[in-house]
Amino acid sequence: TDQSGFDTDVWTLTRFVMETGRQAKGATGELTQLINTMLTAIKAISSAVRKAGLAHLQGLAGSVNVTGDDVKKLDVLSNDLVINLLRASYSTCCMVSEENKELIITPKDKRGKYVVCFDPLDGSSNIDCLASIGTIFAIYKRTTEDEPTEQDALQPGKNIVCAGYALYGSASLVAISTGAGLNFFTLDPAIGEFILTERNVKIKKKGKIYSLNEGYAKYFHPSINEYLKHKKYPEDGGAPYGARYVGSMVSDIHRTIAYGGIFMYPANEKSPKGKLRLLYECNPVAFVIEQAGGIATTGTQRILDIQPEALHQRVPFVAGSPDDVNEYISFVKKFQ
Ligand code: AHG
Ligand code: MN
Ligand code: MN
Ligand code: MN
Repeated sequence: TDQSGFDTDVWTLTRFVMETGRQAKGATGELTQLINTMLTAIKAISSAVRKAGLAHLQGLAGSVNVTGDDVKKLDVLSNDLVINLLRASYSTCCMVSEENKELIITPKDKRGKYVVCFDPLDGSSNIDCLASIGTIFAIYKRTTEDEPTEQDALQPGKNIVCAGYALYGSASLVAISTGAGLNFFTLDPAIGEFILTERNVKIKKKGKIYSLNEGYAKYFHPSINEYLKHKKYPEDGGAPYGARYVGSMVSDIHRTIAYGGIFMYPANEKSPKGKLRLLYECNPVAFVIEQAGGIATTGTQRILDIQPEALHQRVPFVAGSPDDVNEYISFVKKFQ
């Protein structure tokens, strides 16, 4: 029979996670359980995002979170989904969420050995105009056996055991890595599974796109404005770069990985540490970018080397194609 167009030995993300889990030495299956639970939460968020307008999920929740953002109804729903599902997965001891001021501690009888830091809904200012949004997560192994504390979550990004993001775009996609390269999986809504669509993704050495909120140029350090001028009026007579900025980190990062180029959220006079938060935005994305062969830096330090000091701390963030990020770093150095 003709089965063309129908894969009867399909690589779902669930299968991929089980397979890599089985191959890992001394694995107990707890990480597999955790990742699969995260994927269930992502599928539920994807479904909520798709029918937000119909299910009256647009608009504000009426509160402000610890980093000063207006909280949206979809932020709350996504946050509840991730917390409730992960808590019930018997694989976490504590979690950090953009939407919770304090460390979220798993009840004793449900505890496992992992720490999860997540941004349940990234780009929430884009919900009501139907532009792409996402979810970001990083998983660490806990380092102590005692009652969980903030110290368990204040680990540098280089300790990540698995990180990724979901993008709710023209399709829903998961980009995920356990440290052995980056893979893309696309949601097949018919079977409710993410299907492997790109294996061992690598970013271009150099791109043709720069991405940042250039409206803040007035408040940027001169080194950044010099760099941007160089992108728009190349001294060597080359073609200027294209500009793209969605304002959802996940979208801007996914485009940067797919097409190459550079994404920046630098410090500015009004936000001296930038805006993006280290634990649940910068670290997971930096891990994914490095796995694709890219670079992620503050401008002066590798993101994954930073020793975090607070759950919601912000850092300047620049990531993308190695040649582009290195060029940015050279402009920073020139002005030091
Ligand atoms: P979140 O919606 O999770 O709070 O994150 C918003 C972030 C990020 O997605 C994006 O890169 C950035 O905010 C955009 O900020 P500006 O509006 O200052 O450009
Ligand atoms: Mn927010
Ligand atoms: Mn975010
Ligand atoms: Mn968010």
